Amino acid sequence: MHVNYDDLHKTIAALTAGEDDPISLMATVACEVHHADSRFDWTGFYRVTGPEILKIGPYQGGHGCLVIPFARGVCGACAREEAVQIVADVEAFAGHIACASSTRSELVLPVFGPDGLIAVFDLDSDQPDGFDAVDAAALQGILDVTFGRAVG
Ligand code: SME
Repeated sequence: MHVNYDDLHKTIAALTAGEDDPISLMATVACEVHHADSRFDWTGFYRVTGPEILKIGPYQGGHGCLVIPFARGVCGACAREEAVQIVADVEAFAGHIACASSTRSELVLPVFGPDGLIAVFDLDSDQPDGFDAVDAAALQGILDVTFGRAVG
């Protein structure tokens, strides 16, 4: 059973109407998505802050590591390839960065502003195989609409 992504998108659109500050948008998206489904145990953003560098942004859940080079982890792969990563079993992903030992699966999506990649959106689940292509497509749609107008 998936999240009702249409309702989630409407809620996020209503809450963020007229807002173009990327951090404010990230904080709102992280909160709304995190609380939409009990599969989501860590939900948040890593921002592109320099060449090939991601730094922690707004998130919900336990602490996340602060800096991830593009060369490392599932988040780095997403940033490098500018493509969604669906990892059914984090232990089978070479280079996965374990922020919480309870994490079993992970979904990371690229976040594009008007001028290109600004962040990645990372969801971790304590359930194995916690994410599928429906989650990825729906969340990518929400991100594309929400951050397509982000400034800065
Ligand atoms: N697991 C991620 C790192 C971020 S934490 O899960 C919050 C990765 O391998 O990129």
